[in-house]
Amino acid sequence: MKSSLLLSLRLSLCCSLSLLIAQTSHSEETLPVDNEAVVKQLQQEFQGSYPETAPPSNKVHSRELVAAEAEWGILPPYQTSVWAYNGKIAPVIRINLGETLKLTLHNKLPQATTIHWHGVRLPNAMDGVPGVTQSAIEPSASFTYEFTPKDAGTFWFHPHANSPEQIERGLQGILIVENPDEPKYSQDLAWIVDDWLLEKGAKIHDRFVTGHDLMHDGRWGNVVTVNGLYRPSIPVKPGERIRIRMVNSANGRVFAPAVEEIEAKIIAVDGLPARQPIPLQNFYLAPGNRIDLDLTIPKNAAGKTFAVLDNFGKKANTLAMLQVEDTTAVTTPTFKPTQAMHFPDWQSANDAPVTHEFMLNAMRGGEHGITWTIDDHSGHDTIALELQAQSFYRLRFTNRSYRLHPMHLHGQFFQVIAVDGRPVREGFWRDTVLIGPKQSVDIGLVPIDKGLWALHCHILEHAEAGMMSTIRVQ
Ligand code: C2O
Ligand code: CU
Repeated sequence: MKSSLLLSLRLSLCCSLSLLIAQTSHSEETLPVDNEAVVKQLQQEFQGSYPETAPPSNKVHSRELVAAEAEWGILPPYQTSVWAYNGKIAPVIRINLGETLKLTLHNKLPQATTIHWHGVRLPNAMDGVPGVTQSAIEPSASFTYEFTPKDAGTFWFHPHANSPEQIERGLQGILIVENPDEPKYSQDLAWIVDDWLLEKGAKIHDRFVTGHDLMHDGRWGNVVTVNGLYRPSIPVKPGERIRIRMVNSANGRVFAPAVEEIEAKIIAVDGLPARQPIPLQNFYLAPGNRIDLDLTIPKNAAGKTFAVLDNFGKKANTLAMLQVEDTTAVTTPTFKPTQAMHFPDWQSANDAPVTHEFMLNAMRGGEHGITWTIDDHSGHDTIALELQAQSFYRLRFTNRSYRLHPMHLHGQFFQVIAVDGRPVREGFWRDTVLIGPKQSVDIGLVPIDKGLWALHCHILEHAEAGMMSTIRVQ
């Protein structure tokens, strides 16, 4: 098995050479368009897409979070020793838009940690990236994060230090920023979807960042859970309209969520409302991605069970069961789901020049034996790109390897505008986009928030072995 993996890696290395040659001869072409005018137009269309500041409120939510070892029943009757925030897998913090979160993290772990607020637009110093925005919080030390999120939506928080081990052991939670003006669902559920690599007795396999993980798409577990529970039953009532906020917190696994027999719509992606609801169908929820689903339990479904599935692999995984109570139906709330307040058309996005093409690849060597690279560099000590706030950029990710790379940009949202050169209109913003084997993806981005922001693959082993860089927004 090992040798064939090595072979595919080697293949990807030599293929990248021929690609390089092909690319140079192509890059000569000049576009018969006025670049400056196109970019200006795109910038104008962007105006008003998302708020530059949150509506001020004077409320401060003070929280204490202790990161420490805990016991958790992933597969009862077994108890698994995990690392958790306040002893809980997938704790949820809810605040209202405009409110300030002031959260002190106490590190009771045997190693240094931080918290990154994935997808939240916040001051750069609160972004939680050791060596980039703060120093790591040493064992027994504390650190206070304080910020006012600018967007309402579903966000994720997790360590950004030794992530392949810390996130895998269970450190992760959901931050929900609610907009009090939004209509209320019958139930508003927050689900962290994850997988665990468990051994006999439900013990966490404790070798991390292995050569196997690095040659593949990171560490894929053998037990898939929702909020740290294997196939939980979620009680619902007939007629209820439910919002499910789903976060993929796996180290490497991609999910393709589906709900049995019930039509579900995606109303938000990576926190922000979509232009309009999108039927849930083959959506690849890569590590770091979130989707908010809107679904209604049929009025005549009393006593029934609906499975929520993951159809990414050949064999479906059951994520959870929606267990409909045997009661009379409740009144279904009727309202239009929240939509993006403004969504740019960006028809001419693919006429803009590509400002930068990020080359994603691997090479042999380095601390782990394999190094994953962005533009032939590894690690965030290099700044890949300098950008001006409020300007439109078209950027390209080109995957020269045969592995998956969900690329995540901190502090910004972007739109996918082309895949393999073909224009694409997804109708929503993202902070993480999955780049398939040998695929190239173009994004349109208007950076708003200034600072030094991490850009990395969210397959945690790939990031740990080098697929990590930064972008400076000025
Ligand atoms: Cu979800 Cu750099 O992280
Ligand atoms: Cu990757």
